[in-house]
Amino acid sequence: MDKILEAGRYTPTGTNTQGIEYIVITDPNKIAELREMTMPAVIRLFGMAVRVSKIPVLSDFLLGDQAADNFQKIYTPALKAIDAYTQRGDDRLFYHAPAIMLVHGEKLDDMAFSCSAALFSCYLMAHTLGVGCCLNGFLVLAANRDPKVKKWLGIPRQHKCHAAMTLGYQDVKYNHLVKRNPARVRWI
Ligand SMILES: Cc1cc2nc3c(=O)[nH]c(=O)nc-3n(C[C@H](O)[C@H](O)[C@H](O)COP(=O)(O)O)c2cc1C
Repeated sequence: MDKILEAGRYTPTGTNTQGIEYIVITDPNKIAELREMTMPAVIRLFGMAVRVSKIPVLSDFLLGDQAADNFQKIYTPALKAIDAYTQRGDDRLFYHAPAIMLVHGEKLDDMAFSCSAALFSCYLMAHTLGVGCCLNGFLVLAANRDPKVKKWLGIPRQHKCHAAMTLGYQDVKYNHLVKRNPARVRWI
């Protein structure tokens, strides 16, 4: 973890503020506590988003153009499945990962960029060291939108959690690269 964090520390930050703060959770009881808080928070927040997504004017304004579709077709069924697995003891939120890392800082766009870059440096360093990572948007959502989760994590009021991931040794080995659509690029 120290080596992984070093990769974050050396990542550039906007105007070299170096204002990124890390939270690393490795205590299994604390991870369980966080899971128990995060899952209902995410379900509640998604429920609110789904309701908003059904009101076209609000949906475009608050969630963006494609949100209504995404919330109804992708996120809602995915979340239901995750919740059902988690209820049966199969942790589809953190995948039984032994470590969780979050980055937080001032709410500025610039800091969002710096924090995401730093977390991804950690992600790549982890892979180099044989540790697998999974980015976790659900945790970011709960950390920012649920006051109880934010307080539990000790994130200051004026800060935002900009990125998070789980870490652990991989159960599987990938033999080929993932399939992706061609990049949509405009060369100017
Ligand atoms: C911003 C962001 C948030 C993500 N949040 C989650 C998450 O909460 N849970 C999860 O299992 N995967 C999460 N992922 C992983 C993506 O679902 C995954 O990368 C994508 O499905 C492509 O799969 P692949 O990376 O295996 O190719 C997230 C990825 C990104 C970039």
